[in-house]
Amino acid sequence: MKLVIAILVVLASACGGDDIYPIERLQDPNTCMECHPSHFTQWSGSMHAYAADDPVFVAMNKRGQRETQGALGAFCIKCHAPMAVVNGTITDANAADFDPTALSPAERGITCYFCHNVDKIVADHNNGLVLANDQTMRGGAKNPATSPAHHSKYDTLIHSNTNESELCGSCHDIVLPNGIAVERGFAEWKQGVFAKPDAGIHLTCGNCHMKPSTGVIADKVGLSVNSRVDGFHEHTFPAIDQALIPFPEQAAQAAGIKQILDPSIGIIGPKPRTSTRAPGGICLDPPGKLTVRVDSLNLGHSFPSGAAFDRRVWVEVTAYRADNSIVFESGKVPDGVDPEDIGDPNLFGLWDRGKQADGSPAHFFWEIASIESKLLKGSVTLDQNDPAFDHSVTATFNNLVNFSEIDRIEALVRIRAFPYETLRLLVASGDLSPAIESQLQTLAPKYAQSTWLRATKGTGLAVNTNCNPE
Ligand code: HEC
Ligand code: HEC
Ligand code: HEC
Ligand code: HEC
Ligand code: HEC
Repeated sequence: MKLVIAILVVLASACGGDDIYPIERLQDPNTCMECHPSHFTQWSGSMHAYAADDPVFVAMNKRGQRETQGALGAFCIKCHAPMAVVNGTITDANAADFDPTALSPAERGITCYFCHNVDKIVADHNNGLVLANDQTMRGGAKNPATSPAHHSKYDTLIHSNTNESELCGSCHDIVLPNGIAVERGFAEWKQGVFAKPDAGIHLTCGNCHMKPSTGVIADKVGLSVNSRVDGFHEHTFPAIDQALIPFPEQAAQAAGIKQILDPSIGIIGPKPRTSTRAPGGICLDPPGKLTVRVDSLNLGHSFPSGAAFDRRVWVEVTAYRADNSIVFESGKVPDGVDPEDIGDPNLFGLWDRGKQADGSPAHFFWEIASIESKLLKGSVTLDQNDPAFDHSVTATFNNLVNFSEIDRIEALVRIRAFPYETLRLLVASGDLSPAIESQLQTLAPKYAQSTWLRATKGTGLAVNTNCNPE
């Protein structure tokens, strides 16, 4: 008798379907937390979890709806709270009243179910992802063990080693109705060296942004699953943005941002063919030309990328006499002030300058009539003989007076996620809390900091130049 019952139980679970969780339950990330607690914790602090709650997003959507008389519709929400649009909770008609706190966890932000239920992709921008709307979770794990909650499927579209970045890319590129490509990370990636089919260098969004480690992927205690080599992919998705309101996992996000930004950009000279090391990137040539060379390292797109019209990236440089008095400076931007507003004619800034039809600065998507782009590009070739090999940018400051008195030069790159002006415009129109701007950070990646000394210039790797050795 016992044997018969056991066989029946085995048969029932082998047939599956009936006893796995219904779709509504699978849409809630808290359901996934049960068996994938590590994935859940990491995701909970990510910008994907934050996307609908992001106070700047909510404020911009509100203002945009007003200023376009509702023409914006669900355009923004389709990417920032995609399940709310898929389920029909948010439509063009009610998008003006968007309030993330009124949404259920299943529809708030970019959820587990959304990414893991993508069945096909119909456009390479503006979120062309189409869901299967079924109970199957797609992933990059081959031969998945039976899950009591969902069917599982190994899918090349989501597996970072086999896809062409199109799942992430489709939602990361934005083309406005007027044809302007405001966010172009995927388009940039396609132009770059990491999109080349050569297996050695082919790196997709997931390869760089979801670090693999060896472990159990359904790590609830008591499930009978084995550890997988490089099977666990980090779900923190850090880059530049951080939550500007109290949010889970803020310390982990800050650490993740440091980890990805520090090695991504440097103030360095061109690497000699004969060496694996590069000289420093600061040079002081007579009769008064100071240059700071900035290069990206291991970057799958431009720097900044994505919301490049909101980013502010600039070079801060100070030249000192031996007594520490200042001979020259540029890019000294105080807290609370935007780099474009310090009245520095020499400012070297990397970001997309969005412009309105009359040429004045645009701060919001729906105002943008053109973009003047100035970004540090990613690599397009690994061939050192190709003129496109060097994709660096150089900040040049000419005609320095008192040039011969310069004893020491310090240069670094600084980054902010937003201009204060954008936040203040949203505060002025009553759409954003004035408390938010105090949370805005100014970042300075570790390897994009360098020092030139008269005493050591032209030595070591910088031999026969006026540059610093390292
Ligand atoms: C009751 C436990 C349980 C719940 C709840 C659960 N899973 Fe799973 N999941 C598993 C098990 C077990 C596996 C198989 C692990 C293995 O083979 O190493 C798995 C595998 C996966 C895979 C890998 C599929 C593949 O083949 O690549 C993904 C993706 C996944 N789950 C996503 C989710 C998501 C998203 C949720 C929430 C909607 C969820 N899971 C809820 C137990 C669960
Ligand atoms: C932005 C899209 C996205 C979101 C949101 C997302 N995932 Fe994933 N997840 C992926 C991708 C891509 C992979 C596959 C990585 C690979 O194999 O290259 C993956 C892999 C997995 C796997 C298989 C094991 C592994 O680490 O590769 C599990 C389990 C999983 N995710 C669970 C979750 C859970 C639970 C959530 C929500 C708490 C979630 N995911 C949210 C994109 C996402
Ligand atoms: C449904 C649309 C969507 C999909 C799919 C998606 N993303 Fe995102 N992603 C977003 C949005 C929206 C944000 C920013 C949210 C915010 O800050 O308000 C974001 C933020 C990010 C960030 C943080 C950027 C920063 O400046 O801090 C990274 C990194 C990222 N995504 C990588 C990925 C990767 C890798 C994938 C594929 C596995 C992916 N995304 C898939 C919409 C998406
Ligand atoms: C070769 C590694 C690599 C690849 C491939 C890659 N990224 Fe990145 N990504 C980085 C690094 C490093 C940073 C941090 C520096 C920066 O912000 O540009 C970053 C930053 C970002 C940011 C924040 C950009 C900003 O300035 O606001 C987003 C969004 C992002 N990546 C999305 C993607 C998407 C989507 C893809 C695939 C189309 C992708 N990345 C492919 C390495 C990579
Ligand atoms: C096609 C998908 C998509 C659409 C449509 C979209 N976003 Fe985003 N949004 C993103 C992605 C991806 C990021 C992350 C970019 C990055 O970090 O560089 C982002 C980031 C943001 C951010 C935070 C980062 C920043 O500095 O800008 C805000 C705020 C935002 N979006 C507002 C909006 C508003 C308002 C709209 C509508 C007018 C909108 N978004 C439409 C995908 C989208």
